[in-house]
Amino acid sequence: MAQINPSILSADFARLADEAEAVDGADWLHVDVMDNHFVPNLTLGVPIVESLSRATATPLDCHLMIEDPDRWAPQYVEAGAGSVTFHVEAAAAPVRLAREIRAKGARASMALKPATPIEPFEDLLPELDMLLVMTVEPGFGGQAFLDIMLPKIRRTRELIAKHGLELWLQVDGGVSESTIERCAEAGADVFVAGSAVYGAADPAAAVAALRAKADA
Ligand code: DX5
Ligand code: ZN
Repeated sequence: MAQINPSILSADFARLADEAEAVDGADWLHVDVMDNHFVPNLTLGVPIVESLSRATATPLDCHLMIEDPDRWAPQYVEAGAGSVTFHVEAAAAPVRLAREIRAKGARASMALKPATPIEPFEDLLPELDMLLVMTVEPGFGGQAFLDIMLPKIRRTRELIAKHGLELWLQVDGGVSESTIERCAEAGADVFVAGSAVYGAADPAAAVAALRAKADA
C-alpha cells in the first residue's frame, strides 16, 4: 500500500494547521527543514515543528536538509516528529545518529541527493526505517522529476529485498500524477508531493488521485 506524504513546502506557511487539515487522508505530513547551508534555501525549524505537531493528528515526516544533523535531528524527535530524515552527505556519524533517533522513539530515515549512490551504504540499511531517494536536487519545490533516478530506486529496492528488510523507500521531488506510477513500478512505496498536492484546487482529492495511481 502506497503512502502519500504532502509536503507543506508548497502550503501557506501562515495557515499551517488549516493546510494540514486540507490534506485529509494523507499518511504523513512532510516537513522540509532547510538551513541555507546544506541547500540554498531557508524554511523553518524546531519551534514550528513543535507547534505543528500539537496542531495536527497527522504524524510529521521531517526531512532535514541541514548541516550538522548529528546535533539537530534528535531535537526534531523531541519536538514531536514521528519520522526524521537526515542527509548522509551531511551526517558525521550516520549509524550513531540513526540509533539515537530510534532510541528517542521516532523512525530513522536517511536521504541521498541525486549524485549520491546507494551502494556504499548497503551495510547501513538495517539501521534505518526508511531510505529517501531524492528525485530532484534538494532545495525547492516545483522542480522537474529526474527520470535518471529510476535505476537507483530499483537498485535500492533490490538491496532492501536482498537483506530481507522492512524498510520503506521514499521518493521526493517532482512526484505527480504523471510520474508516480514510474516511481511505484521501480519500487518506491512512500511518495512526497508538494506542488502536485498544494497546487491543486482540491488538495485532498489530489492525495486520493496520487494514491490510486501508485496502487494501480
Ligand atoms: C525539495 C523538498 C521537497 C519538495 C518537493 O527539496 O525536499 O519535499 O517540497 O516539492 P515538489 O513535490 O513540488 O517537487
Ligand atoms: Zn522533502
